[in-house]
Amino acid sequence: MEGNDRKFRVFAKLEILIILLKKERMDLEKIETVEPFIINKNLGKHLDPEKTLTQTNAEGLPAVKLSQEEKYLFDIRGWILFEGVLAAGQVEEMRDFCYRLKYDTESIPEHHRSSIGGPLEQLIDHPLLLGFMNEFVAHPPLASQDCYGFRMDHSGLLFRKTGEGGFSPHNGNGILRFPGDSCVYRCIPGKVNAGMVRVAWELNPVEEGKGGTLFVTGSHKGVFTAPESLQSPDSPIWETYGCSEGSVLFFTEALTHSPTTWKSEKYDRVPVFNCYNTVNSKWHNWNPHPDHVAEMPTKRQTLFRPVHVAGNVIGGAYRD
Ligand SMILES: [Fe+2]
Repeated sequence: MEGNDRKFRVFAKLEILIILLKKERMDLEKIETVEPFIINKNLGKHLDPEKTLTQTNAEGLPAVKLSQEEKYLFDIRGWILFEGVLAAGQVEEMRDFCYRLKYDTESIPEHHRSSIGGPLEQLIDHPLLLGFMNEFVAHPPLASQDCYGFRMDHSGLLFRKTGEGGFSPHNGNGILRFPGDSCVYRCIPGKVNAGMVRVAWELNPVEEGKGGTLFVTGSHKGVFTAPESLQSPDSPIWETYGCSEGSVLFFTEALTHSPTTWKSEKYDRVPVFNCYNTVNSKWHNWNPHPDHVAEMPTKRQTLFRPVHVAGNVIGGAYRD
């Protein structure tokens, strides 16, 4: 009798365990498959971002969708590096243009004398960039197949020789910030708005620890004030990267990060630093040359449209 009771208890426990395991699997499946619930303007009506987000760039190239792993890594870390995105020929042409910008500006037509000029223009809506921005910055009601759901906020060439550049840590705690300073990081299950995002196209190799941008991984979700030890670039809390030429780095300005002195004896630093924001936010006092924008394909021009929401989508209906 006692033996039968024990057997029953074992079976009962096994059954509960199986039910729990099945439930856990169902919960996991839900997390993996259910679309995030994005609320639109119309009384909480659900919006399907796939219906509006721009699928091709101004040159007709399809947006590169981020994998589940890439989305996960960017979300938990606040920065992500894609190695070897540009072909060798592209890098060479772009790097040459950067050297002309630095040392021979007069050789470039005036309206192209910027880090979005000449061959650098194709970086501003590169297919990988479009895929990234669709996922982390675009506001779906302000996107269509003719119009990007995000805007370009700034561009600059951060050219550095050995010994140039300094340490200047800033930001962090993005998840706790109110809208207004652009350095926010907001999320719901399965969806993120990463606020203002910086994109660094490294046109020369970066040797790890020799002056690439420093990050405090995960600090965009931090709730405490940074410790005093972060005031040293040698703190082990800082993380950084090394990469080949033609790589691209994305990071949210909500993350604690810092430039640091360029120490490489082998290479100059030649990064184009571009910056993107939501359509209704502008952080930098920067605008591209109007004659250059006028030359761009119509879809690319939407990166520089006015900073407001109402009716600010071409080929779409922002209220739907
Ligand atoms: Fe910054």
